[in-house]
Amino acid sequence: MAIPESFLEELNARTDIVDLISGYVTLTKKGNRYWGLCPFHSEKTPSFSVSPERQMYYCFGCHKGGGAIQFVMEQEGVGFPDAVGILAQRVGMTVPESRGSGDNRKKRERLYQLNREAARWFHQNLMAPENRFALEYFTNRGLSKRTIVNFGLGYSYDRWDMLIQTMTGKGYSKQELLDAGLVVKNDKGRLYDRFRGRVMFPIIDLRGNVIGFGGRVLDNGTPKYLNSPDTIIYNKSKNLFALNLARKSKQGRIILTEGYMDTIALHQAGFDCAVASLGTSLTPDHARMIAQRTQEVVISYDSDSAGVNAAQRAIQLLDKTGIRVKVLKVTGAKDPDEFIKKYGAAAFQKLIDGSENHVEFRLLQVKGKYDLTQDDQKVACIQELAEVISRLPGSAEREVYGNRMAKEMEITPETMQREIRRSQKRQTRWEEKQQARKVLQPVQMNQPESRALRYDNMRSGKAEEGVIAMLMNDPNLLSKVRGLSPEDFTVPVFGRIYQLIWERWTEDRPVSLNALGPELTAEEMNHLVSILQQPISQSNQEQAMEDYINIIQTEGLKGSGTSDLDDDALMAFREKKSWRNQNE
Ligand code: CTP
Ligand code: MN
Repeated sequence: MAIPESFLEELNARTDIVDLISGYVTLTKKGNRYWGLCPFHSEKTPSFSVSPERQMYYCFGCHKGGGAIQFVMEQEGVGFPDAVGILAQRVGMTVPESRGSGDNRKKRERLYQLNREAARWFHQNLMAPENRFALEYFTNRGLSKRTIVNFGLGYSYDRWDMLIQTMTGKGYSKQELLDAGLVVKNDKGRLYDRFRGRVMFPIIDLRGNVIGFGGRVLDNGTPKYLNSPDTIIYNKSKNLFALNLARKSKQGRIILTEGYMDTIALHQAGFDCAVASLGTSLTPDHARMIAQRTQEVVISYDSDSAGVNAAQRAIQLLDKTGIRVKVLKVTGAKDPDEFIKKYGAAAFQKLIDGSENHVEFRLLQVKGKYDLTQDDQKVACIQELAEVISRLPGSAEREVYGNRMAKEMEITPETMQREIRRSQKRQTRWEEKQQARKVLQPVQMNQPESRALRYDNMRSGKAEEGVIAMLMNDPNLLSKVRGLSPEDFTVPVFGRIYQLIWERWTEDRPVSLNALGPELTAEEMNHLVSILQQPISQSNQEQAMEDYINIIQTEGLKGSGTSDLDDDALMAFREKKSWRNQNE
């Protein structure tokens, strides 16, 4: 890895993993760890933990783990150099340039610049007097000058290669234009602008980079919208239009729309929390991105049947994340944009306030299951209603729904609230048990697929876990280790990690997750972090180490064929001893 180690250590020292991850996941402190909903798989109760002490994260549900760099790699879907770049930018450090390294990062940087220049140029075009008709298209649709500037809207000339000319004139290569998806090549190998004669919507990521564009025709031409293809900087299933703005909103929810124009119209009307998925239906990644930033999402899709179907799919994905999901019924207009224009912002707010609550919908379903003329069924129904209500996050909500259901079930509100609290307690107990089980579950219960991570000998494997965990915690224990060579390990990856730790320690180089990161695959890293979750007893470390080593060596002897100490095994044992002696 060409990034100097000293740089990585400095970066590591300046990065606080809790602070970093808090930007993506809502964390709550419990004991000496922080807990939150895992950003890497869908769950409703937190299994994802961050340890400030050890500067690492680990999910007890999906078993992903690592340090700050791995987190960024996993979260942003980038490689090691790019993750380092992102972290460095965050703490105001500059990654030293070196041969070979960061090529991809430089390439991405160039594409960001190119897109930014293109967005600026499109915007200038829109403001140019000769293109007044384009600006009028937007103003006719009710957008103010301010909104147009805010969203950086633009116009692409109806010519074949205006953008190519302009951008190559600024020093960008044709290949870069192709890589950014701004230019297309036809069958004959000719290049031409992808966006021609369209009003332009730049797509901006959470770090403020222009990553792609959507372009709409001004008339009834087809296709109505044209979008940037996926590129090395743009993945439409991982980006939401206007999330860069919505994440700063104070409205406590996210409004999810289907289109650019819906989102923009909502922002203009004061709903600064609107976003849109980009010419694709909502993906699990989108759902997680939303759930990481808000407790409530209001789905506000078109009122046609396509919109209703899309909403059904979106509900399923969003509900899995455990946040409150509401669905707006846009009546009297085909979409939110038209609704606001016809009835105004206040009416839209009313729609949100009265939007079909997921809870009401579920309570209705529960009630439908029982024959309420039968007493025993009614009791069961009350209990199930209490169960649904007990899962609501707000106490006011629980009271309101509880009281309403009490009335419908003809019991006192007090009885209902008591049922709700009982159900809550049951649930907390269950969750605590689950949590404890997850934490205590031995690592080998989740035997990894990969050969390098297999435990052929459980007893030895457990001891190897112990050795590695102790050495990661305090590499200086190596000075006490006698007679353990990498070949003694039955789990190949532990042998490798042991070797790496040993090399680093003898060369006086740092031993940390971050230092080992570049040498391990993502799967190996996850596994390493998983074994670091077991608490290490601070007392009598030397004795513990000796015990582990003994186990590894006796198991090693057993493993070599027969149970008797045959000559071969003895020879092997002696060879290992001599390896030890060399190290002394
Ligand atoms: N879309 C697309 N390609 C199309 C049509 C639509 O990518 N040919 C995407 C766009 O992201 C669009 C969204 O699907 O914003 C919703 O489509 P539609 O409701 O037709 O778009 P609106 O944004 O409402 O556009 P307008 O009001 O300008 O007709
Ligand atoms: Mn629409």
